[in-house]
Amino acid sequence: MTQDELKTAVGQAAIAHVVEGEVVGVGTGSTANCFIDELATIKHRIRGAVASSEATRKRLEAHGIRVYGLDEVEHLPVYVDGADEINAAMQMIKGGGGALTREKIVAAVARKFVCIADATKMVPRLGRYPLPVEVIPMALGHVRRELAKIGGSPVLRRGFVSDNGNLIIDVSGLSIDDPSALETRINQIVGVVTNGLFACRPADVCLLGMAAGVQTLLAS
Ligand code: 5RP
Repeated sequence: MTQDELKTAVGQAAIAHVVEGEVVGVGTGSTANCFIDELATIKHRIRGAVASSEATRKRLEAHGIRVYGLDEVEHLPVYVDGADEINAAMQMIKGGGGALTREKIVAAVARKFVCIADATKMVPRLGRYPLPVEVIPMALGHVRRELAKIGGSPVLRRGFVSDNGNLIIDVSGLSIDDPSALETRINQIVGVVTNGLFACRPADVCLLGMAAGVQTLLAS
């Protein structure tokens, strides 16, 4: 199976987690897009969706799925999103598509976080994928220096502005021994909006696309 076929398979499998008559939280990226296309086939069975990015909002609306603002819904039973890396504890690096802040907000509200990923995303240790950090533009220099102090090599994502009007720094070289502690530490740097470690609020379940089929993984 190709990587695209694995993404399609996990997008289809995630439909089983969608709660009928409710609003579903929807992530961003190529795997999330597979889920959106599948969600369109059952759109008459859901109330609508909350989008984690403008790109996702547009794709949902193009399928005729009603998109709600997060503050318009009282609760969100499920959030479905991809990841750049995920470990056995269901902690993730996200933000390859630059939507990390809205993704983290929607994930925080959702009762259940379903991560959909092809097998290449499962890693024994987080950190080979550069960690995205969303930064208020005027704090760029300060945040870069602070990230270098904790051992990172920060690189500005050129020509990219987030949906929130901010910049993204991709940080390689970090030693991620304790993902929750590092997530908290980086978020305390003044000028950081958030970072792409999803460890304090990990996924509840991972649907992992493998050649043998989709495996359902829970935190170990
Ligand atoms: C976007 C994300 C995505 O979930 C992550 O980058 C994975 O994307 P893809 O499914 O295209 O590999 O965090 O901000």
